[in-house]
Amino acid sequence: MYLYGASGHAKVIIDILNALNIDVEGMFDDDESINQLMTIPVSHEWKGESPIVVSIGNNKTRKQIVERLVCDFGTVIHPSSIVSPTATIGTGSVVMQGAVVQSGAVVGKHCILNTGASVDHECVIEDYVHISPQATLCGNVHIGEGAWIGAAAVVIPGVKIGKWAVVGAGSVVVDDVPDGVVAYGNPCRIKSCEEQNQRYYPKRIAIYGAGGLGREVAGGIQRINSAGRGNWEFAGYYDDNKEVGTPVSHYGYVMGGMDDLNAVEEPLAIAIAVGDPMTRRLILQRITNKNIYFPNLIAPSFRVLDPLTFNIGQGNIIQDSCSVTCNVNVGDFNVLNGSNVLGHDVTLGDFNVLMPGVRLSGSVGVGDCNLFGVDSVVLQRIKVGNDVTLGAGSVLMTKPKDGFTYIGVPAKKFDYE
Ligand SMILES: CC(C)(COP(=O)(O)OP(=O)(O)OC[C@H]1O[C@@H](n2cnc3c(N)ncnc32)[C@H](O)[C@@H]1OP(=O)(O)O)[C@@H](O)C(=O)NCCC(=O)NCCS
Repeated sequence: MYLYGASGHAKVIIDILNALNIDVEGMFDDDESINQLMTIPVSHEWKGESPIVVSIGNNKTRKQIVERLVCDFGTVIHPSSIVSPTATIGTGSVVMQGAVVQSGAVVGKHCILNTGASVDHECVIEDYVHISPQATLCGNVHIGEGAWIGAAAVVIPGVKIGKWAVVGAGSVVVDDVPDGVVAYGNPCRIKSCEEQNQRYYPKRIAIYGAGGLGREVAGGIQRINSAGRGNWEFAGYYDDNKEVGTPVSHYGYVMGGMDDLNAVEEPLAIAIAVGDPMTRRLILQRITNKNIYFPNLIAPSFRVLDPLTFNIGQGNIIQDSCSVTCNVNVGDFNVLNGSNVLGHDVTLGDFNVLMPGVRLSGSVGVGDCNLFGVDSVVLQRIKVGNDVTLGAGSVLMTKPKDGFTYIGVPAKKFDYE
């Protein structure tokens, strides 16, 4: 077996492999200052050796490395752990000393079930999760991708922990935890989602789109930093329609276009600051570089009435004075451009752009790539599909047809001559 990551975590895996009489045939690490771990030489050039286990405790870094390695992954299970014959453990995962996995549990790929972790019947653990030492998941718990459950935390039956959430050591989790938040305590409560962004994304951030929205987003990043909600280092802009070196107000310069962005070798966070919904989607499709991350950029003034029922994906931009009430779900890559209000049970899909002052009433459902003009309103329970444009100041009272423009009060389909 080969290991990638010469860390303290790797030392435990080496012990497990020794207990299983499996030789460590080689170790790799990107850090060229590490040449040996225990007695094992560490190489810095991986040439496809496998099976391999990525022996890195940080979930995000583990995922990044896994995505780089195209090969067979090993699974390492200590003989002192107890794994039910009806449980499944995904490839690349490690089950440490004394961990227990009960009947029907499904553990994803590249997970860590640390020392003495207890995973009860029918739990579902998605990929890249870390269950820390002595943490207890009661029956039917669902852990989203990349989540980290701290040491000795207890999760009561049936609770769902969101993707990339962090649950602090010793917490008692009695309610669902949304995606991407840090939560702790007994009972476990959310600490913040903005800090989670900063913690798990690279510090350097750039904006794709050097226009007006690009300047607004740069101002938003400054505001997040000055409010102590982040520590972003603003690198500049990418834009295919502007010369390299073009200044963008006092915020920074255009550093290149899409080809340059796709050639970036260091981890970089990107905000897509383009106001046309379809173009936002096309830009995302063209970003193929695995070093690029898409954090949510959330203005410090954003208010969430009930954080426990608020879910948000990635790559969203939420500007000043927006608020949501309860049971609101926001997908990926949306723009809430200021003073937007989302009522209870609103669902927003992906790539929607809400211009300033847009209000979505209770139980409104929105698909993808819709554009809501300044101060427009959608009345309660209306379902908006995809690619709809609602004119400025319009009030939508009936379900619109996909792909059309609606204007007026009440909003009517507008047919271009
Ligand atoms: C939850 C956690 C990620 C928060 O880390 P952080 O954001 O750096 O938090 P800080 O250390 O800045 O603490 C901020 C506040 O939260 C409190 N706090 C932090 N973690 C807490 C926890 N698990 N339970 C209760 N309170 C906690 C601190 O006491 C502090 O309170 P204060 O503001 O009143 O002084 C971290 O504390 C934690 O529990 N990590 C899990 C560690 C673990 O299990 N490792 C296993 C490795 S195998």
